[in-house]
Amino acid sequence: QKTPASLILLFGATGDLAKRKLYPSLYNLFEKGLLSDRFAVVGVARRLKGNEDFRNWVKDSIMTFGERSDQLEEFISHFYYQSHDVSDSSSYTQLKQLVDRLDEQYRLEGNRIFYLAMSPEFFGTVAGHLKADGLTETNGFKRLVIEKPFGHDLQSAIELNNEIRKAFLEEEIYRIDHYLGKEMVQNIEVIRFANAIFEPLWNNRYISNIQVTSSEILGVEDRARYYDKNGALRDMVQNHMMQIVSLLAMEPPIRLTTDEIRSEKVKVLRALRAIKPEEVHQFFVRGQYDQGMINGKEVPAYRDELNVSPDSNTETFVAGKLLIDNFRWAGVPFYIRTGKRMRKKSTKIVVQFKDIPMNLYYKNGSHLNPNLLVINVQPEEGITLHLNVKKTGQIMETTPIKLNFSTNSIDGMNTPEAYEKLLYDCLRGDATNFTHWDEVALSWKFIDTISTVWEQEKGDFPNYQAGSTGPKCSDELLAKDGFCWWSDT
Ligand code: BG6
Repeated sequence: QKTPASLILLFGATGDLAKRKLYPSLYNLFEKGLLSDRFAVVGVARRLKGNEDFRNWVKDSIMTFGERSDQLEEFISHFYYQSHDVSDSSSYTQLKQLVDRLDEQYRLEGNRIFYLAMSPEFFGTVAGHLKADGLTETNGFKRLVIEKPFGHDLQSAIELNNEIRKAFLEEEIYRIDHYLGKEMVQNIEVIRFANAIFEPLWNNRYISNIQVTSSEILGVEDRARYYDKNGALRDMVQNHMMQIVSLLAMEPPIRLTTDEIRSEKVKVLRALRAIKPEEVHQFFVRGQYDQGMINGKEVPAYRDELNVSPDSNTETFVAGKLLIDNFRWAGVPFYIRTGKRMRKKSTKIVVQFKDIPMNLYYKNGSHLNPNLLVINVQPEEGITLHLNVKKTGQIMETTPIKLNFSTNSIDGMNTPEAYEKLLYDCLRGDATNFTHWDEVALSWKFIDTISTVWEQEKGDFPNYQAGSTGPKCSDELLAKDGFCWWSDT
């Protein structure tokens, strides 16, 4: 199904995100024939000279970061550039003239997407001007796409939300969480609700704990100015990790509409047990990487990275235990863990089922492995089910086996990049895989207690080596409950 005719007004057109993700993703939609022929993109930034310069920029980005480029010339002919000052009304007046002209030229029916891929400090200003200077006055649809971070705590998120809500309705706001565009994150719902064998077991009677891990090899790279003020808790947990938890824990929606799914996710966040300040240490631990070896190369400690203060108290690793106080999940810990400069790049979910009542095959200290359902989000995509079967031979002994399904090997092709799916959804007006304000507010509320406590106390940093599986306290968090991380499943 093709997207409707639309104009995409992209703020931050020369930024990293646009270059690495947005242009290649949009191009893929174009080449697959999913993008309407009636589309135009207006890039807004400061550093380029004009349309020609911009088109070369886009071309370059697709050649560097994209996989295909056969119809590039035709594609970039739809791109226009406007040099822009975000706080100057006359800039918006010029922008409006260009937008109106393109609207006519491409018969865009007044459909407009305003994509803010820029520093969040300008979100409010831009949204305000878009309305005040008439760009949001249109007969077609208008949508605001907004990148993270959405505030740095509940208060700042409320302020930002109030600002953008002056110009856009909640249903016109598409808050990006790119994890929601990942194939296997979208698959959580299907695995749960399209299989008879999981849903009956998906509760506290049969599941002992659920683990969500997102580890990265990369360090802070050149983002220290942003990262050092935020840390892993705000950067990864408040959004991506909590979104995954809510998809794993939500009740089956009565139908697959945006509102129904979101309302079930919100209920999970509402049922999340709030942590009291004095309990933070019991439920959450943090880490910061020290120097170490990654792929045979020595890498520096976080505190020695560019633009990081030598006594930085910012965490680059978080592990935590979340409890969901409802009938389905009472007593089942959801463990989450994320870190930079870890041993491997891996995002996965492990659902550990409870042990069976007794082990009939017990012999000399042998034990039965628990059944695990592993959802591999990246880099591999697929699911693995861990079972026990009979060891071949005369004796009745058990051995663990894995039933494996990998999407890559079945389709024989790469799944679309998260941004490609999210852009497509937004162009078609499907907000299901974007974050609703209620979710943002509830997750900040949960996170704020933890960050407040952590800001007041100096962390025992650095406490894990680059290239490791994180600090010891992360293993201890689970060991206290009699569990361990299933790192190599
Ligand atoms: C972003 C964070 O949201 O997610 C980054 O800001 C992080 O710090 C990135 O590196 C991880 O995304 P992915 O898709 O590589 O797992």
